[in-house]
Amino acid sequence: MFQPIIAEYYQKPRVSEVVFGSNLIADARAAIQSLGKNTVCIYDKTLKEPKLDLPNTLFLPVDAGEKCKERKIKEEIEDALISHKMGADTGIVAVGGGSVLDLAGFVAATYCRGLRLCFFPTTLLAMVDAAIGGKNGVNVKNVKNYVGTLYHPQFIFVDFSYLQTLPDDERQNGLVEMFKIAQVYSPEKVQEFDRTLSNEIKSASFQKAIYDSIQMKIALVQESLQDPSIRDLLNFGHTIGHAIETLQNFQISHGRAVCLGMCAEGYISYRLGHLSKAEFDQMQNCLLQICPGISLRKRYPFHAWIDALMLDKKTKEGNIHIVLLTKRGVPFEKKSSEVSLEAVEEAVLWL
Ligand SMILES: NC(=O)c1ccc[n+]([C@@H]2O[C@H](COP(=O)([O-])OP(=O)(O)OC[C@H]3O[C@@H](n4cnc5c(N)ncnc54)[C@H](O)[C@@H]3O)[C@@H](O)[C@H]2O)c1
Ligand SMILES: [Zn+2]
Repeated sequence: MFQPIIAEYYQKPRVSEVVFGSNLIADARAAIQSLGKNTVCIYDKTLKEPKLDLPNTLFLPVDAGEKCKERKIKEEIEDALISHKMGADTGIVAVGGGSVLDLAGFVAATYCRGLRLCFFPTTLLAMVDAAIGGKNGVNVKNVKNYVGTLYHPQFIFVDFSYLQTLPDDERQNGLVEMFKIAQVYSPEKVQEFDRTLSNEIKSASFQKAIYDSIQMKIALVQESLQDPSIRDLLNFGHTIGHAIETLQNFQISHGRAVCLGMCAEGYISYRLGHLSKAEFDQMQNCLLQICPGISLRKRYPFHAWIDALMLDKKTKEGNIHIVLLTKRGVPFEKKSSEVSLEAVEEAVLWL
């Protein structure tokens, strides 16, 4: 009889280099060329075609937003690569917001079993969140990111000049994620971010705040390699935030939904006696600075909330998990915690 063979595999750690500056595309030439003999540039068609000025470059404009995160679009890109005889020695450059990066990341991870990849995030949210951490994917049957992989780019160019044209609502989406990460990371970063908010978002300290947010996300993602549940912390505000998106049929921006989600989840931490009233009030004031006048515009029966909350990936055996805080910057556990339905009901009624 053959004995079972136990094969232990581990992924070689991959290194991503994150570069900061303005009008970086010209400086990025050597890095992009190092990705492969050919280059495929997948970019948001509302932006100008990137001036890559490299030989053997195929430009593929896509419509930004959830419509580009369809399997059909991924297939169309694969077909274009095949018809242009792009092989394993091809580098992918993605220029756009989170939707374009998620799509391009997935193509890069799977085409020829993996192509080298470079990101130019063009929204604030993509800079501080979507470009970092390696997650990619497409939506299937209306489920977001149903199919995807974890695959890191070799380079991420955080080019602040893209922010000049960004509309306020897109800026708000990014700010909410920047706020979120500080709340689960450290009291010092919370204070720094509060100061940036009160000083005026356009100042140079804002670029430093972007830098810090990226550094915090990288640190948490790296820590999660040892303990995967740490990645839950990135979901502060998202358990209730995602439920709000579902209840409102995605007619609310992700940022505003997560903003309300952080208010409600902060309230639960406060009501359970973990977070002081003063800290909870401060948190709410900052959130109102980011999303002025925000409120839940419609009431929903609690059973509708429960149905929406059950879709959350952190819900285990029907139990709702949220990230609790003991202090702004200090999570109650280094992961999400199970909370009672009563606590959730009180919070969503309060909202
Ligand atoms: N992979 C991850 O870890 C991760 C994390 C967070 C979000 N995401 C994904 O990211 C997507 C949301 O990202 P997003 O908000 O960047 O969305 P997006 O790519 O849809 O961009 C939002 C809008 O901004 C426009 N835009 C992009 N750059 C611009 C610029 N410089 N100036 C003016 N307009 C510009 C786009 O054309 C689009 O209309 C979602 O699909 C979400 O699932 C992924
Ligand atoms: Zn989010």
